[in-house]
Amino acid sequence: MVVIRWGILGLGNIAHKFASDLLKVSGCILYGVASSREHVAEKFSEKFNVKKFYDNYHKLISDKEIDIIYIASLNQDHFKYSIQALSNKKAVLCEKPLAINQNQVQNLIKCSKENKSFLMEALWTRFNPTFEQLLDWLKNDMIGPINYINASFSFNGLSSSIDSRLFDPSKAGGSLLDIGIYPLFLAYLVLGRPKDIKSNAIKTTRGVDKQMAILLSYDNAHAILYSSFSHDEEMIARICGEKGQIYIDSRWHESPSLTLVRGEKRLKRNFNFKGKGYSYEIEEANQCLRKGHIQSHLWTQKNSLELVALMDEIREQNKIFYPMENE
Ligand SMILES: NC(=O)c1ccc[n+]([C@@H]2O[C@H](COP(=O)([O-])OP(=O)(O)OC[C@H]3O[C@@H](n4cnc5c(N)ncnc54)[C@H](OP(=O)(O)O)[C@@H]3O)[C@@H](O)[C@H]2O)c1
Repeated sequence: MVVIRWGILGLGNIAHKFASDLLKVSGCILYGVASSREHVAEKFSEKFNVKKFYDNYHKLISDKEIDIIYIASLNQDHFKYSIQALSNKKAVLCEKPLAINQNQVQNLIKCSKENKSFLMEALWTRFNPTFEQLLDWLKNDMIGPINYINASFSFNGLSSSIDSRLFDPSKAGGSLLDIGIYPLFLAYLVLGRPKDIKSNAIKTTRGVDKQMAILLSYDNAHAILYSSFSHDEEMIARICGEKGQIYIDSRWHESPSLTLVRGEKRLKRNFNFKGKGYSYEIEEANQCLRKGHIQSHLWTQKNSLELVALMDEIREQNKIFYPMENE
């Protein structure tokens, strides 16, 4: 098996979780990491036994030994560093959202094609066994035609500073791009693109959404979706059809269990996740690289483009704009 050599760019909160899961995946190694803060890069490399650490991103992107770079910087920088890596013939797994708007995602896809470099959005939920099970039940028509989806993602982030990545417009903050992307992804994955979107945001004084309510309408179905930084909640996802329902347990986007209900009958499946759940997207990227693919068929570049298009429309409806979109 060809060993895939990974690099990580930006060494914050999610990079730590990702690295810990990467070490559990066979057939790949964490070869290099880069932070703008040298001491952070050094400490990270010691903790995860990384061969090389760098104090700037460019050195990581230029390292000829590295096959694929996981972009774990903030939303406003996903596009910039993904383009640099792809142009340097590196494969890219970029944190969600892949970029902040359609225009940026289109350019990333173009760059991936021109350079024949793999590009995938790190929508890790898509790849875990719970979602494979969900899709399998749907494929086998276990709940009949779907007419209702209800999903949300909330946590109480009110104590975060107004300059935090959650609330700062210059960091492409707001609940939609940070966590609302998950319920939107679920509805899109199961029902596809809606024929109509209605949404309503409660915004901060700096103009990003701290709460977002979304109604997607389809010919024969509704999806009621919600995201918020204002409170905690249980987070169960409900997918309902004419013959039954599927409930993904709390917190559904990272849940190892789900239940199929048909009349009086209940079938619960529980999966033992390898690590926190990031290993499945890593395995998928490894497989794609070994096969020479430039995208995953499980979560395609077109899927990322269509998902960001929904977020663009929702932001437009609520007049949420980011300063770097005009640059
Ligand atoms: N998949 C998931 O489960 C999940 C969970 C949380 C977040 N995320 C996504 O992952 C990304 C990073 O989130 P995080 O929670 O890891 O963020 P974070 O810890 O706050 O920051 C990540 C990195 O961004 C860089 N950074 C921090 N402040 C910056 C600033 N003001 N200007 C420019 N760069 C700055 C730093 O890189 P250096 O190390 O170079 O200093 C930092 O290590 C976000 O896009 C988020 O949407 C995904």
